[in-house]
Amino acid sequence: SNDQLRFDGKVVIVTGAGGGLGKCYALSFAERGAKVVVNDLGGSMSGGDGKSTKAADVVVEEIRAKNGIAVPNYDSVEDAEKIIQTAIDNFGRIDILVNNAGILRDRSFLKTTDLDWDLIHRIHLRASFLLTRAAWPHMQKNKFGRVIMTSSGAGIYGNFGQANYSAAKLGLLGLSNTLSIEGQKYNIKCNTIAPVAKSRLTETVMPEEILNVLKPEFVSPLVLYLCHENTNETGSLFEVGGGWVGKLRWQKSSGAVVRNGDLMTPEDVRDNWTKITSFDVPLYHTAIAESTNFCLNASENASSETPSSATSDDTKFKY
Ligand code: NAI
Repeated sequence: SNDQLRFDGKVVIVTGAGGGLGKCYALSFAERGAKVVVNDLGGSMSGGDGKSTKAADVVVEEIRAKNGIAVPNYDSVEDAEKIIQTAIDNFGRIDILVNNAGILRDRSFLKTTDLDWDLIHRIHLRASFLLTRAAWPHMQKNKFGRVIMTSSGAGIYGNFGQANYSAAKLGLLGLSNTLSIEGQKYNIKCNTIAPVAKSRLTETVMPEEILNVLKPEFVSPLVLYLCHENTNETGSLFEVGGGWVGKLRWQKSSGAVVRNGDLMTPEDVRDNWTKITSFDVPLYHTAIAESTNFCLNASENASSETPSSATSDDTKFKY
C-alpha cells in the first residue's frame, strides 16, 4: 500500500543477522528498501569459539535473490569499528543500528565462572556500547539515527540460571535510557526490546507447539516501526512476541517520609512499611530530576510541619 513504512536510502547494521531474529530483521529492512550490513560471526551458541562466514553469506544471498541490497560482515561485535567501517566503505553512511547479536551461558549462580560472566557482558552489553559509540558520530553528523538494544524478560524479571545474562540484558536498558537523552538533539532515538521468539537460543528450552507461535516475523515489525524516520518514540522498553506488543514503565509507590525531624530509625521504616509498599496512588516518573525533586519536596513538606530551614523551591535539583 501507499503508506508502507519504507527505508529507501537508509543504511542499516543488524548484528547477529545470520540466524533467528537478526536474520528476520535484515530480510525485512532489505525488503523495504534499506541497504543492510548483515553481521554474523557464525560462532557457537555459547560464544568464545567457532567462526564461519556462512551464516552471514546465506542471508546476504537471500536478500540479493530478492533484488535487495546487502553486504556481509563476519567480525565479532567486539570488533565494532570494523563493522561500522563495512557500512561506511560500502554505503557511505549509517542510519540504523540493531544491536541483536547474542549468546547464552546459563549456569546456576554459584557455578557461574568469571568467563561465563565476562563473555556474556562482552558480547551483549560491552559490544552494544562499542558499536553504538562507533556509529554515533555518523548519526550526529546526519542528524538522524535509530538504535535498538535487545534486552530480555530474564533481565526484567530475573530467571533461574541466568544471573550473568540478566545483569547484562538489563544493563542495556540503562544504556538506552541515557542514549535516548543524549541523542535527543541529534534526532537519534534509542529503544529497547525484550523479544520472545523461536531461535537457536530458545529451541532447546521451549516446547515445539509454543515455539511455532513465536515466529521472528512477529517481532521484526516492531523493530522496523521503531527505526522508521517518522517514529519519534525514544527511551522506551517493549515486550514483544507471538504478535503481541506492549510497552513497559516504572511504577513507584507514593511512599512515605518516615523520619522524625533529624532522626530516622529502622523501626520508622518497619512501622511505615504498608505505606512504603502501597501502590494505591502510584507514581510514574520519567526523568531523574522529576524523581529526585519529588523525594525532596516530600521531605520538605514533612519538615514544614515542624520548624526547619528547608525552602520550598521545587526545582532545586536540575541535574
Ligand atoms: P540466535 O542464536 O538465533 O541469533 C543470535 C546470532 O548472533 C547468531 O546468528 C550468532 O551467530 C550471532 N552472534 C553471536 N555472537 C556473536 C558475535 N560475537 N558477533 C557477531 N555475531 C554473533 O538467537 P536469537 O534468539 O535470534 O537472539 C537474538 C537476540 O535476542 C539476542 O540478543 C538474544 O539474547 C535476544 N533474546 C532472544 C529471545 C528469544 O526468545 N529468542 C528472548 C530474549 C532475548
